[in-house]
Amino acid sequence: MSGRIATVFGCVALACLSWTARGGPDDVKKGEKSGNGGVPGLKDVYKDSFRIGTAGDLPRGYSDEELGLVEENFNVVTPENCMKPGPIHPEEGTWRFERPDALVQWCLDRQIAVHGHTLVWHAQTNDWFFRDGDKAEVTRRLKEHISTLVGRYKGKIRGWDVVNEAIGDGGNAQTSETEHLRNSPWVRALGPEFLTLAFKFAHEADPDARLYYNDYNIEAGPKHASSLVLLKRLIKDGAPIHGVGIQGHWSTNNVPIEAIDRAIADYAALGLKVSITELDVTIRGTSGGQFGPGPGPGGGRAGGGTPPSEQDLKAQADAYARLFAVFNKHKDVVERVTFWGLSDRRSWRSRQHPLIFDANNRRKPAYDAIVEAKLHPNPDPSTPR
Ligand code: G3I
Repeated sequence: MSGRIATVFGCVALACLSWTARGGPDDVKKGEKSGNGGVPGLKDVYKDSFRIGTAGDLPRGYSDEELGLVEENFNVVTPENCMKPGPIHPEEGTWRFERPDALVQWCLDRQIAVHGHTLVWHAQTNDWFFRDGDKAEVTRRLKEHISTLVGRYKGKIRGWDVVNEAIGDGGNAQTSETEHLRNSPWVRALGPEFLTLAFKFAHEADPDARLYYNDYNIEAGPKHASSLVLLKRLIKDGAPIHGVGIQGHWSTNNVPIEAIDRAIADYAALGLKVSITELDVTIRGTSGGQFGPGPGPGGGRAGGGTPPSEQDLKAQADAYARLFAVFNKHKDVVERVTFWGLSDRRSWRSRQHPLIFDANNRRKPAYDAIVEAKLHPNPDPSTPR
């Protein structure tokens, strides 16, 4: 740990100690034996800016060390897969609540918020939703799915990605003037109104939940323009939408800082909040949220790719620092910044080392850079330090 970072940690540790001390001696003890090695967690460093989250289907299959890292660093968890339509509702009338219930209870017991992901998507959604159904029947199935799921966790889940990735890829100048909706089974069954319906059903089931539209690559180019067209239509049609999730699957090859800065302002101008919902920065690897077979089993999740060099880790740390500087600049609009996975071992792009803890749960340079970005902000986040 550099001298500067050590001083920074010292100051935040003091602040955090007096903060946790109010919660009682147990909280202080937890800090001493943490997987963080006693240094303050990101959630504490950023507590006056926004929530800091992680994604995973915990606690089952996670080690004590991993769960310790979650408790130390994050104050919101997104289930990575277990609440998606396919896993949780594989057939009509068949629900698999065991993992989601365990996740929600684990978080509730630790006062960690949960952000639900995702109610309506074109992927990981079984065919029964659409099979032999006319418009009225598919609408009934959609409503039943959302009402049951959101209703079960009413008051326990803080917000939901109501619709995920509805906008198509590969836009151009023409499509940027339209919503350019993906040709999904939902569009084919219900038309573009499926989005408004989903938001209304979610709001009816839990009027206090924060409701989000979530997508990747919407910060720039034609997809950003299409997102504005879509969001304006949803607002005009009275969809109870609170925010936009910019997923944030970026790479050291592609960190569109200026575009992100403008996109957050554009969404705020519509009266919406913003969250960075699936943040990861691959080392010279793939960006975007498209799920593909990838190099290796589990879409690249298993095994290690070429180990990152010191220079790679520094480039990644710089990228994260610049991103957090922009998020922090918009802290009045940004509600939450969630990493997509806990560690490089847990990442869907693990071979590209995209997260802030390495495969052995050790803090990477990116972690310290994110702390620095908050405590000693770079006056010009568009350039590396
Ligand atoms: O759980 C099963 C296991 O039982 C089975 O043996 C194994 C065989 O392949 O598959 C396991 O499920 C896999 C699951 O991840 C859990 O590891 C699925 O095949 C695999 O498709 C699934 O991938 C997930 C992907 O979404 C699916 O589209 C990734 O983990 C998850 O990180 C990824 O997350 C998405 C967000 O939801 C939306 N935005 C993009 C992001 C990345 O693609």
